[in-house]
Amino acid sequence: MNAPAALYESSLPHLKLLGRGKVRDMYEIDEKHLLIVTSDRMSAFDVIMPDPIPGKGRVLTRVSNFWFEKMRDIIPNHLSDDLTLADVIPDPDLRAQVEGRAIIVKRLKPLPVEAIVRGYLIGSGWKDYQRCGAVCGIELPAGLQQAQQLPQPIYTPSSKAEMGTHDENISFADTVALMGEELAGKVRDASLRLYSTAAEYARARGIIIADTKFEFGLDEDGKLYLIDEALTPDSSRFWPVEHYQVGISPPSFDKQYLRDYLETLDWNKTAPGPKLPEDVSRKCAEKYREAELKLIGN
Ligand SMILES: Nc1ncnc2c1ncn2[C@@H]1O[C@H](COP(=O)(O)OP(=O)(O)O)[C@@H](O)[C@H]1O
Ligand SMILES: [Mg+2]
Repeated sequence: MNAPAALYESSLPHLKLLGRGKVRDMYEIDEKHLLIVTSDRMSAFDVIMPDPIPGKGRVLTRVSNFWFEKMRDIIPNHLSDDLTLADVIPDPDLRAQVEGRAIIVKRLKPLPVEAIVRGYLIGSGWKDYQRCGAVCGIELPAGLQQAQQLPQPIYTPSSKAEMGTHDENISFADTVALMGEELAGKVRDASLRLYSTAAEYARARGIIIADTKFEFGLDEDGKLYLIDEALTPDSSRFWPVEHYQVGISPPSFDKQYLRDYLETLDWNKTAPGPKLPEDVSRKCAEKYREAELKLIGN
C-alpha cells in the first residue's frame, strides 16, 4: 500500500493514543519512548482547519529532522535511534500510513514555555513596537520599520497554553520563576544560538527566518533536549529573500498564505474553521514543499 496523499488523523490501533495536538498525534511506545505522527492538519489562529494540507506533515517531519541533525552540537534533540519504525509498527500497511511522518522520540517532560526568537519586526512584535517602542518588554531603537531586521535577535518567551486557548507572552523573569535561573538561562541561550545558526544557513539558500519557536524537554536526569518540531514553516515565519522589502509585510512560505485567505472571509476565528477550497489547500501545500526544497533540496 502506498502512503496516502493526505493524512488528517492517524490510526494505529495497536498503540495507545496519548493525545492529538493541533498537528501531531502522540502514541505511547513504552515508558521511555513515544511515537509522534505529524498529520496534515493545519491550524491557523489556533483553530484546526477541517481540511488537510496534503503532504504537509511529511514536509514538517523532514525539515525538523534536518535541523535536529544539523544542530545536534548546539543541543541534543529528542530523536531516538533505539528502535526502528518496523519494530514499533510491524504491520506494513499501517506503517505505510505514517511513513515519512512518524518519528520515535525520547519521552521527555516538556517545559511549560514556548521559546520564541525574533530576528525581524513583524506580526505581534510589530504591533507591540508601534504601540510602545518595545517588543514583549524589550526596548528597541526608535524609527524601526515593519519587517526590519532587529539590531540583534531577541528572546520573547510565551507560556504554553492549553488546547483551545492562546499562548501568552511572559517575561524572562517569569520563566525564571517557572523553572529556575539556570534552566531558564540555558533555554534562552540555546534558543538564540539555534536561531542565529539556522537563520544564517537559510539566508544563504534564499530564505529569511523572521522568527521561530522552540520547545524543550527534560529527561529523568534533568538533561535538556530540543523537542517537538524545529525551524519548520509551521513554527517559524519563512520569507523568500527575493521578495523581502522593509516597510511591508513580506509574502511567506508559512501559513501566512492561509491566514491571508482567511482574512478575506467573514469568519470569527473560533472553531469550527471554514472549509478550505481545493485551490487554497493545494497552493498551501506547494508553499510548504517549496520551503523544503529550498532548504534541503530533493
Ligand atoms: N519528546 C517529547 N516528549 C514529550 N512530549 C513531547 C515531545 N515532543 C513533543 N511533545 C509534545 O507533543 C505535542 C505535539 O503536538 P502538537 O500538535 O505540535 O501540539 P500543539 O497543539 O501543542 O502544537 C506538544 O504538546 C509537545 O509539547
Ligand atoms: Mg505544536
